[in-house]
Amino acid sequence: MLMCPKCGKKLYKTDNSYKCTNNHTYDISKEGYINLLLANQKKQNSGDNSIQVNARDTFLNNGFYYELTLKIMQIIKSLNIEKNSYILDSGCGTAYYLNILNSNLKFKFIGIDISKNAIKKAAKKNIADLLIVASITNIPILSNSVSLIYNIFSPYDLQEYNRVLINNGYFVNITPNEKHLYEIKDILYEKPYLNTNKFIDSNYFEIMNKTTLTYQKTLKNADIINLFTMTPYFYKTNETSKEKLFKIDKLEVTFDFNVTIYKKRN
Ligand SMILES: C[S@@+](CC[C@H](N)C(=O)[O-])C[C@H]1O[C@@H](n2cnc3c(N)ncnc32)[C@H](O)[C@@H]1O
Ligand SMILES: [Zn+2]
Repeated sequence: MLMCPKCGKKLYKTDNSYKCTNNHTYDISKEGYINLLLANQKKQNSGDNSIQVNARDTFLNNGFYYELTLKIMQIIKSLNIEKNSYILDSGCGTAYYLNILNSNLKFKFIGIDISKNAIKKAAKKNIADLLIVASITNIPILSNSVSLIYNIFSPYDLQEYNRVLINNGYFVNITPNEKHLYEIKDILYEKPYLNTNKFIDSNYFEIMNKTTLTYQKTLKNADIINLFTMTPYFYKTNETSKEKLFKIDKLEVTFDFNVTIYKKRN
């Protein structure tokens, strides 16, 4: 199932490593993950840093995205995917969703993320999955082997998704809908904007179903700070607005997602 990122041959598991027939060897870390990210890919992008990873991990563990996880679970169950098929969480972060799905569904879950910080953290609390440090632009998985890929707020690569998915495979994409975190933006920016919806128009995939999921939750000060730190606002907000947000004790925040199911065109 795994593919050598250097030569494209199948990887075989030995006691503490994965190896291809060209003898390229990748050690399994003590936490249980595999690093299949090539040095040149690492230079271009190292994904979320440890501050963002910790903020995201704490925020998610407080259950604010549990409803979204249930929605993904419901979709996976509805698609009649064969038992024990592979499901890939692309840009899995610290594997919050993956752990819940894995405990409830009978599939083989794989998580990949370019951030070693995130995967390391994921592996510490993970029991059975394959967790890989890799880029979605060079997925170290053999062609035609995954039944479903889901992506929550992460970059995607449609050509690679098309390659690793089986015929009739699915791609479930979660993106922010118009009102996602609007109340946060309302505090940070003079003219808060609504998110624009972008759906994928591709030769590889067709839209099978489009839905949204919207709910509100009350966030405490620590939750607000974590949420801010794990989003792109972290990089694009001035100190004054940041201070204003960080002073807030409680805030009712809207979580608004686009949930789109794409099917691979055969
Ligand atoms: C906004 S976070 C979402 C994480 C997770 N899906 C979640 O919802 O909690 C985006 C993730 O994409 C990862 N990422 C960014 N570029 C990537 C790439 N080229 N390949 C794999 N992962 C990437 C980041 O490290 C980060 O964990
Ligand atoms: Zn190799």
